[in-house]
Amino acid sequence: MSLTPREASERAAELCRMAPVIPVLVVEDAASAADLARALISGGLPVLEVTLRTPAALDAIRAMAEVEGGVVGAGTLITPRDVEAAVEAGARFGVSPGATEQICEACERAGLPLLPGAATATEAMRLLERGYDVQKFFPAEAIGGAPALKSLAGPLPQISFCPTGGVALRNAADYLGLPNTLCVGGSWVAPADKVRAGDWDGIAALAEEAARLPR
Ligand code: 3PG
Repeated sequence: MSLTPREASERAAELCRMAPVIPVLVVEDAASAADLARALISGGLPVLEVTLRTPAALDAIRAMAEVEGGVVGAGTLITPRDVEAAVEAGARFGVSPGATEQICEACERAGLPLLPGAATATEAMRLLERGYDVQKFFPAEAIGGAPALKSLAGPLPQISFCPTGGVALRNAADYLGLPNTLCVGGSWVAPADKVRAGDWDGIAALAEEAARLPR
């Protein structure tokens, strides 16, 4: 059941290659989670990250895990308890804003593929030493954006990233054109007002637009 970091990274790479964008979702109401997942998946974005930032998040993962054609993971993993709860809810991968010994260990033990966060060359190298060669670059725009990520490709070409944080339609292509970027993560495809209004067609249209981004 447990996973090595290398196995986790292989799985993370597969997920990152499924679509150019992983929607980062902050779900307030689990009752609409399945509709939200259906809209995003039908628009061409099958890999969904539900952040564990709301009381509804775990129920949302449970509901979304039932929707055909999707792969639902849990984001904002901070503690081993988050990892256990995410696995119990049916999450198939995990994402963390940074990476600690405890989080890596908990995910490896639980067999949950992890996309661990790194913001500097040192953090990226520490994760690589452990065996994680696919990482989340976070918070992407605030730490220098695409030029900063491009700069890591020179000395660390063996690491691939999913930049997240401040990424949207206007700048996603800047990242997706980099040799060390597999996909991007972002919340722009599921804006809170559209989710609250149940505008699933509008969200599917945003997903379609995102799914067409070249890489
Ligand atoms: C995250 O929560 O992982 C990212 O910060 C999402 O960032 P965004 O809301 O800027 O897309």
